[in-house]
Amino acid sequence: MTSKDEAQECFVYIILPGETNFVTAAKFHLAADRRGAPTGKFVYGSTYLTRENAVSLDPLELKLSKKTYTTRQLKGVFGALRDASPDYWGRRVIEKHAGLPQLREIDYMLQSPDDRAGALGFGLNVEPPAPRRKFNQTIELARLQESADAIIADEEPPKGVKAEQIDDLMLVGTSMGGARPKAVVEDDGSLWIAKFNRPDDKWNIARVEQAMLALARECALKVSESKVAAVGDRDVLMVKRFDREKTKRGYRRARMLSSLTLLRAEDTHQDRSRWSYVLLAEELRRITSQPKADAAELFRRMVFNALISNSDDHPRNHAIIAMERDWRLSPAYDLTPLPQISIEHRDLALECGDMGRYANAGNLLSQSARFLLGPKEAEKIISDMERVVVKRWYDIARKEGVSEKDCANIAGAFVYPGFRL
Ligand SMILES: Nc1ncnc2c1ncn2[C@@H]1O[C@H](COP(=O)(O)OP(=O)(O)OP(=O)(O)O)[C@@H](O)[C@H]1O
Ligand SMILES: [Mg+2]
Repeated sequence: MTSKDEAQECFVYIILPGETNFVTAAKFHLAADRRGAPTGKFVYGSTYLTRENAVSLDPLELKLSKKTYTTRQLKGVFGALRDASPDYWGRRVIEKHAGLPQLREIDYMLQSPDDRAGALGFGLNVEPPAPRRKFNQTIELARLQESADAIIADEEPPKGVKAEQIDDLMLVGTSMGGARPKAVVEDDGSLWIAKFNRPDDKWNIARVEQAMLALARECALKVSESKVAAVGDRDVLMVKRFDREKTKRGYRRARMLSSLTLLRAEDTHQDRSRWSYVLLAEELRRITSQPKADAAELFRRMVFNALISNSDDHPRNHAIIAMERDWRLSPAYDLTPLPQISIEHRDLALECGDMGRYANAGNLLSQSARFLLGPKEAEKIISDMERVVVKRWYDIARKEGVSEKDCANIAGAFVYPGFRL
């Protein structure tokens, strides 16, 4: 498996509900079709299908069945598998470590560490490996921050200590998605995503994101637990992983799918016709065990994003999870205020109503029925949340350690005038 044209193949492992070890679930095969388009094939193992507690990796696209599934979307990688692969940051670390600019899709899946979002693992052997048991510890945060900085600066490690430094870089290698520098850290009997600030950030993103998570909690949204750790004069945001649960035997894992996968959408901004909260609400209602509660929660999240001008609310920033058999909307994460120049018209990343992506109260209300909300109920959610955001954003930001200067930098993000035009 060396040439780019050769078929690529791997086994897919899963940690089933209630368990802490992998079992082999399926085989994945990626090759170019006759026209050269990458085509993925996926088939569940026959032993897996006979397991009493077998679960599907994707309740809509990969139902438990003997058939061979085929896809040409997402470069031939099924959404459920792509969601378990590293993204911009994790790929950059692997490339740096391997000394190669770009690897094949399957190399990223195989070379990334076993800390990926969700319950899956990948490997070349039919027998699964033992799950990862050793994680970075909080005490190592300063070293992790240093490694992340080195990758951002693209520095070559100084001669003489090269090998050691290169191994260090992998400490911040993670299969978790997202573009920002991060590492997975064990702390207080749980796993956390440590999100590092970048030297070129316009404001203290760790503190600001922490404040947004706190503001969302105050707006009664379901939100990931989080805290800020100070490392020297730098701050690191720690977000508790909702897809892991420690037991005496090891970590349990929840299956996890991004809304990019639920929407069957491509992940480029050029091809975003299916990026829509309204469509997402429909898909979510088909899958979740609590359609009414989760559709309303998604509505509240969309409203919150409009109220804080979070235009980075792309489909990988929403997910569904299943710790047991049933699927639910995941807690909110990655909430970022983005003050923009226009005070009349701002767009979210996903469509939210009849007027497209417009972050405007009337637009948010226009499709409330699809979120299983009556017009009055939806209007009340919007006005209650608007009141909390106006009244509380500043105090919460200050309480979470956002400086006066940074508050001034982000002030224009909250309830911009166009929200009520
Ligand atoms: N609390 C959590 N528990 C489990 N998985 C999470 C959690 N928070 C985030 N994730 C997963 O990790 C990925 C990266 O996290 P996050 O979105 O916070 O990073 P980011 O680098 O800021 O992303 P972006 O590229 O959108 O700016 C998410 O897309 C999601 O799959
Ligand atoms: Mg993100």
